[in-house]
Amino acid sequence: MGKVYYVSKNMGLGMLILAVTALAIIIALSIAYDKERAKNQGKPGDEASEGTTMPTPSTTPFTPKEPWDRYRLPDSIIPVAYNVTLWPRLEPNTDGLYVFTGQSAVVFKCVKETDLIIIHARKLNFTTFLGHHVKLSGLGDATVPAIQKTWLVEKTEYLVIQLSSRLTMGAPYLLYSEFLGELADDLEGFYRSEYTEDGVKKIVATSQMQATYARKTFPCFDEPAMKAVFNVTIIHKPGTVALSNGKENVIDGVPVKVTTFEPTERMSTYVLAFIVTDFGYIQSNQNNLMIRIWAKRNAIADQQGDYALNVTGPILQFYEQYYNTTYPLSKSDQIALPDFNAGAMENWGLVTYRETALLFDPMLSSTGNKERVTTVISHELAHMWFGNLVTLRWWNDLWLNEGFASYVEYLGADYAEPSWNIKDHIILYDVQKVFAVDALASSHPLSRQEEEVNDPAQISEMFNTISYSKGAAVLRMLSEFLTEPVFARGLSSYLNTFAFGNTVYTDLWDHLQQAVEHTPGIHIPHSVQDIMNRWTLQMGFPVVTIDTRTGSIAQKHFLLDPDSVVDRPSQFNYTWFVPIKWMKTGVEQQQYWLLHETGMTLSGEDWVLANTNVSGYFRVNYDLGNWDRLLSLLNTDHQALSVINRAQVIDDAFNLARAKIINTTLALRTTKYLSKERNYIPWESALRNLDYYILMFDRTEVYGALQAYLKKQIQPLFDHFKILTANWTKVPEGHTDQYNEINAIGIACSVGVEGCRELINSWYRQWMENPGQNPIHPNLKSTVYCNAIAFGGVQEWDFAWRMFKNTTLASEASRLRSAMACTKAPWLLNRYLDYTLDPTKIRKQDTTSTIQYIARNVVGMPLAWNFVRARWSYIFEQFGKGSFSFANLVNGITKRFSSEFELQELKKFKEDNFHVGFGSATMALEQAIEKTTANIKWLTENKAEVLKWFTEEST
Ligand SMILES: *[C@@H]1O[C@H](CO)[C@@H](O)[C@H](O)[C@H]1NC(C)=O
Ligand SMILES: *[C@@H]1O[C@H](CO)[C@@H](O)[C@H](O)[C@H]1NC(C)=O
Ligand SMILES: *[C@@H]1O[C@H](CO)[C@@H](O)[C@H](O)[C@H]1NC(C)=O
Ligand SMILES: *[C@@H]1O[C@H](CO)[C@@H](O)[C@H](O)[C@H]1NC(C)=O
Repeated sequence: MGKVYYVSKNMGLGMLILAVTALAIIIALSIAYDKERAKNQGKPGDEASEGTTMPTPSTTPFTPKEPWDRYRLPDSIIPVAYNVTLWPRLEPNTDGLYVFTGQSAVVFKCVKETDLIIIHARKLNFTTFLGHHVKLSGLGDATVPAIQKTWLVEKTEYLVIQLSSRLTMGAPYLLYSEFLGELADDLEGFYRSEYTEDGVKKIVATSQMQATYARKTFPCFDEPAMKAVFNVTIIHKPGTVALSNGKENVIDGVPVKVTTFEPTERMSTYVLAFIVTDFGYIQSNQNNLMIRIWAKRNAIADQQGDYALNVTGPILQFYEQYYNTTYPLSKSDQIALPDFNAGAMENWGLVTYRETALLFDPMLSSTGNKERVTTVISHELAHMWFGNLVTLRWWNDLWLNEGFASYVEYLGADYAEPSWNIKDHIILYDVQKVFAVDALASSHPLSRQEEEVNDPAQISEMFNTISYSKGAAVLRMLSEFLTEPVFARGLSSYLNTFAFGNTVYTDLWDHLQQAVEHTPGIHIPHSVQDIMNRWTLQMGFPVVTIDTRTGSIAQKHFLLDPDSVVDRPSQFNYTWFVPIKWMKTGVEQQQYWLLHETGMTLSGEDWVLANTNVSGYFRVNYDLGNWDRLLSLLNTDHQALSVINRAQVIDDAFNLARAKIINTTLALRTTKYLSKERNYIPWESALRNLDYYILMFDRTEVYGALQAYLKKQIQPLFDHFKILTANWTKVPEGHTDQYNEINAIGIACSVGVEGCRELINSWYRQWMENPGQNPIHPNLKSTVYCNAIAFGGVQEWDFAWRMFKNTTLASEASRLRSAMACTKAPWLLNRYLDYTLDPTKIRKQDTTSTIQYIARNVVGMPLAWNFVRARWSYIFEQFGKGSFSFANLVNGITKRFSSEFELQELKKFKEDNFHVGFGSATMALEQAIEKTTANIKWLTENKAEVLKWFTEEST
């Protein structure tokens, strides 16, 4: 499945620095994401680290006696092929229900003697034949046992068929059933999505099978290793089109159309897809491969699918070369759906997306939207081979499937958009992101035992940040130390060997090992498996400390909280085989293997930088002398280090300081050279780290000095973009320059850089004078709206409100809704808070996120806190039990809490509302108390030092 949270990428964290104004967008983003995750039961997480850890599995697996009480299918029967016919009704029946009917015939073989057939089925009503749910017949000469009885087991989602005698080994049988299911709007299995186009309500029948929902569509052996061929037939109304994994073949009839599909390749149930819709499409052909993009007719007419069509061909071409295997299917369909749970899903030959992940409007979408489309497509298409052609046997190895796609998505996207330098972005969006989660004592290893993952909830939990982002980071490290040609050679051999079959993760290690052995000149100190076990079987990662005076080099498990206790033992005692690429005074050195070699030859005079290009998954610390040399290098010649190493030096320093390994001032000193920095990635990295300082200090005397420091640092960047854009009349050409322009303007305005405010106000005023013609570039809209409203008064606010009410574009509405929380006028903020509880003004689904935008604003924070406290029982009643991300409300409001007084208020709130309850925010409230306590401690320890530093540095 695609990652669901690309929203937070590339939005320009400059917004974060809007201290007095509110930083709505970022919150907007993390909330949008969290909502998604709430719906999604812990699909891969973004910066929110909650929910990314897994409960420790019970150590004594309980094995139920009856085979139908176990979550795994018995190994006595394997499917060969299915004929599945589905007929979704796009109008409600007389009971007001949307339903589908279906028939399925599955040919299977008995491979171990049994008198029991167990097949998955969930929420299906079966037609009975002589009192049984199914008919059984034979396809060969073998006698067919009679059915003794059949029954459904709800808990394990099975249909069980007890036979009166045993099946014959090796003989083929046919199991036939007819069934009825609800075409619900629950986003699972075969489901219904609704939208309105040109005033007409329309229904789409579509599907999401991963991980365990195919069984809700038709009875099937619903495990990834139970691969089979599927002959699909869909019955639907004239005027609609039916899509599935194979190429279609339409027979027009009256009053219905019957679309049959070519038999699929041998495949897993979780990548099946069935769709009926009246969407439009655009098409291109590449070497006889049909490529189509489907979406709502209006979106296709507005050319919103063009960009996706443009990049799909090149990306497929890239993977064919990289994997050295041709695209395994006869067509590639991709479709944008109005209601979709994940970000995207890699159904084989028919990939499904949410609209924002596939559609791009050249006039109205931002450059961040464009990057998202490219990377999500690249991620999903990577799975057409890795995941779909060759499939991991069971969900415990999900990290390899998703980690792999999360790594190579950057390679595919880079091929499609070579000017973006997009490979560097993995550092911000995966490596640094997962460092934060994996540095907690509550993290968990990538790899899990097959027996630890059984029921659908345990399977769902596998879709988390560790699987996606740490998986990507360690595979990238592996590719770096093997070198890309060797990695690709092993990969290609793995794909060719196991095509249409299933594997376990060690199969990949074996093929990479063979590639190493067949490549002269490549040496690794241990086998691929031995090296990788340390990264996949134990959680966390090391901090490598290099003492340049002695050449000594050591590693230690990195924990963000030095007082935390690790209660998960590791067979490797938290040591790793660490491949260290490094340079000495600008000269690349030979790769060093920690735990294998003993020390480096160093004199203490050269500057040393380890982990060049951040090719390894570890942090680095040095002796103070080397830190000084690195900082002075940054100040005199920062380009001596690569862009991502500049970002990494900053991120390592801030995190080492949080872990009390180095001083806070040393971390702050890494930001001094930023006045010379023009690149987005180091800036973004610094701003993410500084965000914590802003939250902690924006109500204290430190803030004046912090602002003055930032003003000094951002001024040159602001001037740079002013020139680059010919006085703000052009869009910067460079892809990341566009992101950094957003940062520059956002921060500059918030810290009072001259000219910034006037610039923003003039754009906004022009728009107010001519509302039909918005002169603000889509990239800059969020920043400009927020600042103009912050600097403005009731007129600016009311104008935004009118535009909010008028717009038909969802993304525009959400930008405005968050920007309105940026005002500094308490009465406007209070009025807006009142609006949030009036569903005619703010849709109920947006209530809690709007309150959080207001709380992000330093003026709005106490107002929101009072508002929520005063109405807790009502808010709890309305939202506490729904699907809203209620925990984030408490989380968002208390983010700044850092005084003894606030801690007491929080505790009192907990006491006072004990009788009402806190629902899904219960844990968030406990965490808020814990975090507030930690913040108080951090402030006490650091405030004086930080104030002194900012004061000295800002003059
Ligand atoms: C599926 O269709 C193919 C081609 O029409 C046919 O050979 C095969 O027997 C069918 N499978 C089943 C299960 O009937
Ligand atoms: C599957 O469908 C095909 C085409 O309609 C038909 O020829 C075949 O007999 C069916 N197979 C089974 C096992 O029902
Ligand atoms: C399936 O049967 C149950 C029990 O009779 C009924 O409540 C339910 O509505 C049926 N489902 C559909 C989709 O008709
Ligand atoms: C798609 O490619 C065509 C042809 O190169 C180009 O003219 C068009 O601008 C591209 N569309 C988008 C949205 O990038």
